[in-house]
Amino acid sequence: MSRQGRMTIRQATPKDIPFVVEQESRADYRHYIQHWSFEQHAEALHNPDLRYHLIVGSDGGRLGYTIHTGLLSPHRSIYLQRLVVVEPGQGVGRLLLMRLMEIAFEQWGAHRYWLHVFSENARARALYRSLEFQEEGQHRDAILLYGVFKSPISMAVLEDEWWANLHAQIDPKTFPSIA
Ligand SMILES: CC(C)(COP(=O)(O)OP(=O)(O)OC[C@H]1O[C@@H](n2cnc3c(N)ncnc32)[C@H](O)[C@@H]1OP(=O)(O)O)[C@@H](O)C(=O)NCCC(=O)NCCS
Repeated sequence: MSRQGRMTIRQATPKDIPFVVEQESRADYRHYIQHWSFEQHAEALHNPDLRYHLIVGSDGGRLGYTIHTGLLSPHRSIYLQRLVVVEPGQGVGRLLLMRLMEIAFEQWGAHRYWLHVFSENARARALYRSLEFQEEGQHRDAILLYGVFKSPISMAVLEDEWWANLHAQIDPKTFPSIA
């Protein structure tokens, strides 16, 4: 169990947007994630194709968040648009991602769960690889971020891979509960 105690996943509300904007403005994250304005998040929060989730500690403090798109995808293809934790390297990202993958495959009926990661983001790539995401290709200079062209790599897990290997890795004792 982490020092945050039993963690909980809940859907975001408009009151969470300042937290999300603050995380996306962090100097140490600016080369790893894209950032949206307050207004873009406020609009996205009401888009039925998107879902925002927060992970919170036992005291309710916000520890991280995800944004997914593709909820309305006819291809059952769920895209992890954003994954951010406040304190990296403590295992929170793994728990948050595993929980949301479980929701995607087991509640939303995903066939494919995928994302983009910048090649230099070693920590995120290590996490995805350890969860058996397959690298599917690199989009050279596809994103211009703070004046620098970035080359995102697409990575994905398919539903049979989830059920074959990953589902069994869920540890009910530490897995975040759902609010
Ligand atoms: C990416 C992110 C969500 C991962 O969450 P986290 O809580 O830091 O990740 P965890 O601690 O659960 O796991 C990180 C793994 O990477 C490993 N790792 C950490 N730093 C590393 C590095 N520099 N190189 C390689 N592996 C590294 C850790 O050992 C750990 O693996 P393990 O569980 O097998 O020991 C988080 O670091 C973050 O918010 N980063 C900034 C935003 C971002 O990059 N988001 C993803 C965009 S695609």
